[in-house]
Amino acid sequence: MGKLTELSLVVEFAGLRLRSRTMNASGVLGMSAPLLRRVYESGAGAAVTKSLGPTGRPGHSNPTVVEVEGGVLNAMGLPNPGVGYFADEVRELKREGITVVSSFFASTLKEFSESARALSEAGSDALELNLSCPNVEGEVGMCAADAASVERVTAAVKAASDKPVFVKLSPNVTDIVQIAVAAEKGGADAITATNTLKAMAIDADFRRPVLANVTGGLSGPALKPVSLRCVWEIFDAVEIPIIGCGGVSGWRDAVEYLLAGASAVQIGAAVRDGGFEVFGEVNAGVLEYMRRNSYGSVAEIVGGAHRE
Ligand code: SIN
Repeated sequence: MGKLTELSLVVEFAGLRLRSRTMNASGVLGMSAPLLRRVYESGAGAAVTKSLGPTGRPGHSNPTVVEVEGGVLNAMGLPNPGVGYFADEVRELKREGITVVSSFFASTLKEFSESARALSEAGSDALELNLSCPNVEGEVGMCAADAASVERVTAAVKAASDKPVFVKLSPNVTDIVQIAVAAEKGGADAITATNTLKAMAIDADFRRPVLANVTGGLSGPALKPVSLRCVWEIFDAVEIPIIGCGGVSGWRDAVEYLLAGASAVQIGAAVRDGGFEVFGEVNAGVLEYMRRNSYGSVAEIVGGAHRE
């Protein structure tokens, strides 16, 4: 049992030491160093960049975002300035002592390796491999539905970089456990579960899909039960830690993910809706939950719902 003064959210996992268990989800506010700095200053344990490609991409045309019942749909199409450009932003953040996770994607093994090398050399503390954007399937290497490809890409990135590699998985698969196991076999240091759920909205008056891309990825509260189930299933199948992602907007959501088996959580839609304060609120709420329930460390909570 720990006293409140001794309780800590510090976590050592996947070769990293993080001061708290929260991060922003890739794609939310991750497009520039000043916004990532604010994420970190607000209490996140690490700042996660927007997913970066080998070269810049304009993304899809508008409308790219729409609010729906229980969440938000986006089909941005991975707009980003490219690894080369963003490497300078990573260097700037590292000069300020900020823990940076660089999210990236590519189309070929060679591009995956080159991007991993460039982002590592820029000083990223960890890499997050985005194999799971539902909005560009078929265009770039979003192979999260194919276990063999996930293993191959993960192994290529691990061979190109000595940084911890998180693999961000998709809930849009028949069996996410099989994919998580493949990532672990490829050498992944952690699993991020999950990216968004493929969905759509139709405007009854215009009689047309709302998003220019027709379909998009659902995030926010409606995604939470799905991602929570994914974390629960993956926890029993792999040894590496899991980062829960999907619908975290308060400390209670974070605790639910910890109990399901996550060691940390990423926060996306709630940052966009409620601002940067959410990181501090979640951190404080988890500490208070620990005190109330006589937990001495967060590790005691992780996977707790699996135990008798
Ligand atoms: C997008 O840019 O379309 C969303 C990014 C993602 O889901 O990975």
